[in-house]
Amino acid sequence: MLLAWVRGVAARRLCRDVPLACSCSAQRPSPRGYSRGAGGKGLVLGIYSSEKDEDAAMFTSAGDAFDRLVSGKLRELLSLCGPPLKKGKTRVFHGLHQDFPSVVVVGLGKKDAGVNDHENWNEDKENIRAAVAVGCRQIQDLEIPFVEVDPCGDAQAAAEGAVLGLHEYNELKQKKKPVITPQLHGSAEREAWQKGVIYAEGQNLARYLMEAPANYITPIKFAEHIEQKLRNFSTVKVHIRPESWIATQQMGAFLSVAKGSAEPPVFLEMNYSGGANTNDSPLVFVGKGVTFDSGGISLKPSSGMDAMRADMGGAATVCSAIVTAAALNLPLNIIGLAPLCENMPSGKANKPGDVVRAKNGKTIQVDNTDAEGRLLLADALCYAHNFNPRAIVNAATLTGAMDVALGSAATGVFTNSSWLWSHLYEASIVTGDRVWRMPLFEHYTKQVTDCPLADLSNIGKYSRAGGACTAAAFLKEFVTALHWAHLDIAGVMSNKDEVPYLRKGMAGRPTRTLVEFAARLSQDSRNNK
Ligand code: BES
Ligand code: ZN
Ligand code: ZN
Repeated sequence: MLLAWVRGVAARRLCRDVPLACSCSAQRPSPRGYSRGAGGKGLVLGIYSSEKDEDAAMFTSAGDAFDRLVSGKLRELLSLCGPPLKKGKTRVFHGLHQDFPSVVVVGLGKKDAGVNDHENWNEDKENIRAAVAVGCRQIQDLEIPFVEVDPCGDAQAAAEGAVLGLHEYNELKQKKKPVITPQLHGSAEREAWQKGVIYAEGQNLARYLMEAPANYITPIKFAEHIEQKLRNFSTVKVHIRPESWIATQQMGAFLSVAKGSAEPPVFLEMNYSGGANTNDSPLVFVGKGVTFDSGGISLKPSSGMDAMRADMGGAATVCSAIVTAAALNLPLNIIGLAPLCENMPSGKANKPGDVVRAKNGKTIQVDNTDAEGRLLLADALCYAHNFNPRAIVNAATLTGAMDVALGSAATGVFTNSSWLWSHLYEASIVTGDRVWRMPLFEHYTKQVTDCPLADLSNIGKYSRAGGACTAAAFLKEFVTALHWAHLDIAGVMSNKDEVPYLRKGMAGRPTRTLVEFAARLSQDSRNNK
């Protein structure tokens, strides 16, 4: 009883609340002072929740080492501050060590949680990403320009948490959040940390492109931005194909959408040769690149229409995955294809009932001009077959119905290949950016081929029913490759607060899963040799 009372008084004297939940601080001077201090750095340390002993703090090895450095003061202060930290909760300590004026301790949850078979992800990695993101943001709020991060036993996940957690689009604001650079604490896992930084920066590139306003990221600006990112890689060639090229390719479906806008379309083509042999069959990525989707003549409601600046999320994620693959020097060949245009209403726009002809000769009745993504993809998928692909993977913010089906929990994957599915699935368990398999039944195909004027209608005849599935069935009509997967990413396009290590805004999902998938495929080809 007496001990508890002494503890309570001491904790009240040593700990003061800071704005984020469950935070304490000892000797807390004004935060601004630190950013000016010589070599002022923050430190983020993880701590596991202990199942056995209610009070004992289970430090990571970095936490243990730091506690020894400060003669056990960290452990002491933590126990004075109250019960063990729950997952994602933090405590801040100031003045513990001169090199680290501020230390954030953050709860990691259970140690060695492993792969959760119900959640289909690696829980340790997800916990680390979430905890590190919270800790780094807290250091940023203190306006400390550098932060060292505990690798928490998985430096790649820790780096991803830091770099993803701190990202924010504030290009166009005069008042910006302070820039903060995360670094690895200790030196043991440098390579894994660096890998995590590259993966996360890849996703952040996709977030940047998706978040940016449509008057900043037009089709040509998108292509130039990606070209600039790829400029320094001798392994990559970029072609920015103009409208005349698209016309000679007889991409009538893509062109029919593009002609409604004053912005000219672009067909972006990237060729990454990381494979041992430049002739090795490439993985082909295809991404829907509608830089703004107003719906066209089948105009969308005005409320929320601004989000359709991210309707190039497929192009953004696949292009970012290629930039990342090049940065990682992955040993495989990848082709990236992104048909880029706007979907606008105008005197030249598609009208409901118009019939257009795709590259493979199939005719399409455009019954709803808002189902434009599949028109771009039809032509791009036909073109993808020219590369003798090992596999074709397309990504597209294709249907609102996908969001209705799965929300932001997982990307919907429609695939004709269980081999491809298992690679995507395994990759997603590691990245935590999950996938879920969806059907490609003949049932849905019948609903798009039963069409009055053309070979196909661009919407299912029962309109809203199974909307994501009829869209996938439509795309399947343009695929002959044995290994093809369509990723409908409409549901994961943006984040409110569902993914704790991403701030609110466009999510850039599932870039890391695409990269991890490509990395696994490159290992697969090595093992098969
Ligand atoms: N870009 C939209 C799909 C979308 C909706 C993406 C919400 C992200 C969030 C797509 O072009 C579209 O409008 N699809 C229509 C298809 C319908 C007309 C058959 C839709 O989902 O309503
Ligand atoms: Zn649309
Ligand atoms: Zn669209």
